[in-house]
Amino acid sequence: MIYLDNAATSWPKPDIVHETMSRYMREIGASPGRSGHRLANEAERIRLDAREAIAELVGLSDPMRVIFTLNATEALNLVMQGLLQPGAHAITTGMEHNSVMRPLRALEQRGVSISVAPCSRDGTLDPQTIDEAIRPQTRLIVVNHASNVCGTVLPIREIGAVARRHDIPFLVDAAQTAGCWPIDINDDNIDLLAFTGHKGLLGPTGTGGLAINDDFNIDMLRPLVFGGTGSRSEHEHQPDFLPDKYESGTPNIVGLAGLVAGLRYVLDRGLERIRVHEQKLTRRLIDGLYAISGVCVFGTRDPHRQTAAVSFMIDGQSASRIAHDLDERFEIMCRPGLHCAPQAHRTLGTLPNGTVRFAPGLFTTEAEIDKAVAAVAQLAEGTIE
Ligand code: ALA
Repeated sequence: MIYLDNAATSWPKPDIVHETMSRYMREIGASPGRSGHRLANEAERIRLDAREAIAELVGLSDPMRVIFTLNATEALNLVMQGLLQPGAHAITTGMEHNSVMRPLRALEQRGVSISVAPCSRDGTLDPQTIDEAIRPQTRLIVVNHASNVCGTVLPIREIGAVARRHDIPFLVDAAQTAGCWPIDINDDNIDLLAFTGHKGLLGPTGTGGLAINDDFNIDMLRPLVFGGTGSRSEHEHQPDFLPDKYESGTPNIVGLAGLVAGLRYVLDRGLERIRVHEQKLTRRLIDGLYAISGVCVFGTRDPHRQTAAVSFMIDGQSASRIAHDLDERFEIMCRPGLHCAPQAHRTLGTLPNGTVRFAPGLFTTEAEIDKAVAAVAQLAEGTIE
């Protein structure tokens, strides 16, 4: 079997991820931040390790400014719903996932106005278009770091500089980049960074969060969820300090145990090495697919400007049929359709049918890429009866 769906969730996970989760379940089991006994303290240590590893990954000096959520979607919702009041204006881009578009459209119905900065046909964006969309009421700029459809990386540092110049909070959706593309929350001018734990960071599903830069004033950000934190229990009002302000209820501590293990694996291996490997696979995949007659490859087709998510189509065939054949006949797992990102497909010109996406990962081999390309060539030639 060949797994090319790492943009949905990475798989397989390193053995140390399973082992660490199993150890937590067998030997610790307790809830962090509550109770104070030795097992609860060990659980709290795991959560702190996870905060420290994320802070190290993105260059954040204070690990207490890392908040854990169920996934990147929840972290994005926390910011958009917590920051944008009726009358406010927000700017986003033409390459977004529904994890950004749907909260914004819901807020639009509550009196928030939205501008969508247009991108080029390959998904790239001129930061000037963000500058031009700014209004006196603009309270947030939110952008996808890399497209989940075709991998195109947006110029976050330049967009962040625009945001800084106008003193507007800048939120980056790093679902596709955390763990496989360098991010520095300071150098990239990011105020709020939403990440997921189960893709490039190699952790389990149900993990994600938000990194909040030091100078972002949390007074302006209302929590999404209120409840018990294990702190200040005498008060019926939510704590106003980090991380408790945004972390109510028992956390997914077994998930965080796996996330720490995945993250440490990534940090030990080194982001640059991971990136070089994925760039090599992406180059091979793009070149192989591009050379097949009747196959169209979308996006920049440049591994230095995109992550390892490659979208393509075969003339005259449907995306779901291609993916079905790849699974049935060649045991290749991939994702067809609109990838929860109609806005990005509109930009790429691939609505309403969508594309087929191959997303290799850290454990994909060149031989697997060659087999996947050969399978697409056979489908394109119609040699499969
Ligand atoms: N956003 C994820 C994907 O692209 C789930 O598959």
